[in-house]
Amino acid sequence: MKISVIGLGYLGATHAVAMAKLGHEVIGIDKDVSKVESLLAGKIPFFEPGLAEALAEVLAQGKVQFQTSHSESSASADLHFLCVGTPQAADGSANTSYLDAAIDDLAPHLSPSAVVVGKSTVPVGTARKLRDRLQEKTGFEPKLVWNPEFLREGTALEDSLKPDRIVVGSFKKEDSFPLLVAYEKLLQAGSPLVELDVPTAELVKVAANAFLATKISFINAMAEIAEVAGADVVALSKAIGYDERIGNKFLRSGIGFGGGCLPKDIRGFISRAEELGVGQALSFLKEIDGINNRRRQRVIELAKQELGELSGQKITVLGVSFKPNSDDLRESPSLEIARSLAQAGAVVTVTDPKALPGLSDSQLSKVSDVDQALRGSELVILGTEWDEYRRLDPLKSKSLVKSATIIDGRNVLDVAAWQSAGWKVIALGRTISND
Ligand code: UGA
Repeated sequence: MKISVIGLGYLGATHAVAMAKLGHEVIGIDKDVSKVESLLAGKIPFFEPGLAEALAEVLAQGKVQFQTSHSESSASADLHFLCVGTPQAADGSANTSYLDAAIDDLAPHLSPSAVVVGKSTVPVGTARKLRDRLQEKTGFEPKLVWNPEFLREGTALEDSLKPDRIVVGSFKKEDSFPLLVAYEKLLQAGSPLVELDVPTAELVKVAANAFLATKISFINAMAEIAEVAGADVVALSKAIGYDERIGNKFLRSGIGFGGGCLPKDIRGFISRAEELGVGQALSFLKEIDGINNRRRQRVIELAKQELGELSGQKITVLGVSFKPNSDDLRESPSLEIARSLAQAGAVVTVTDPKALPGLSDSQLSKVSDVDQALRGSELVILGTEWDEYRRLDPLKSKSLVKSATIIDGRNVLDVAAWQSAGWKVIALGRTISND
């Protein structure tokens, strides 16, 4: 099938490559010339494992092309996927203006038989507004369906090619048929299809992200309790996770969630519920956000407890991306901690396997070599659990630092091994004796 993918950020670039890998003829469209040029040259403008290799493959097969605006060719697509961003506005709501602009650009080129497929994360009710806008601009009743995306950074391509569910919301069921044909291989491979009305499909996405954020903040709230009760949140998480109704996934305690999705999506969801007059239903999500932010503050407190006055103290932060296998710095808990420490006067060195090039922060000293970053440090904070930091040799690391104290912000280190190498280990939600 012929497909256009509008918006080539994280979601769009991955979706374009995934659809080309499924054998479709894909045209990716983005107004950002540098993004288009980069993709045409086979370069992914962000770090995502396996995506560059897959892009090279589909470019070589001539399955995908990229351009900055619609053309005769893109106008003849059977499906147009809307993949533009919906960033957080100043008041916390989701800004849907890029979707409006995408609709306005598409309208003059849209054929009545083509299906517009929304994939962006939106406030419930947006799809109907977009359909009305399209109808007004085209003069015909457009076919629009909603197909939220659940990919995770770090495993984006795999999530796209083996989705754990395909959610499709439609105003008229038959409008979704071409989409199901496009996804035939995924459906045949066993991905379950969930056919819904449009508002429910829009809600599935934000509800899923709100639930994931809630799980993380729940375990981090338990960490707060464990800290004062002399308990261990890691053992607690494992113990409650044995109950299959609870499950052990997304119950990893630490400095909390960040990224371009969970924080913004819960705030957008709260804002939409308030607009709809049911703000109370989601007031608990404000607490989820609050718990998440308190964990970052806790690390600053622990650093002060350890070092006393922060001014002039040399602190090394291992990892600044919001999670491993990503170079995304948006709402990164680790980066925020590094910045707060620097603002308090500490001399902060940050290191990260992939995210340093995107970091322009004069207060932080960026060092790509881990040994170099550790040298002379008075306190080490593990902020992002990249494999290279999990695997660090505690003995060698001790020989580099000035004072062997580490705050494990992700509860991933082998405490006994680090202690026996002479380290003082401090962790969130754990009572660790360093005597
Ligand atoms: C999230 C969702 O997991 C995806 O399903 C969704 O498609 C995506 O948002 C989106 O809306 O586009 P992502 O932002 O890539 O995916 O990251 P997650 O894997 O959800 O991690 C989010 C944050 O939570 C990270 O900072 C991670 O370190 C943290 N986290 C995760 C924890 O602190 N504890 C956990 O147990 C799990």
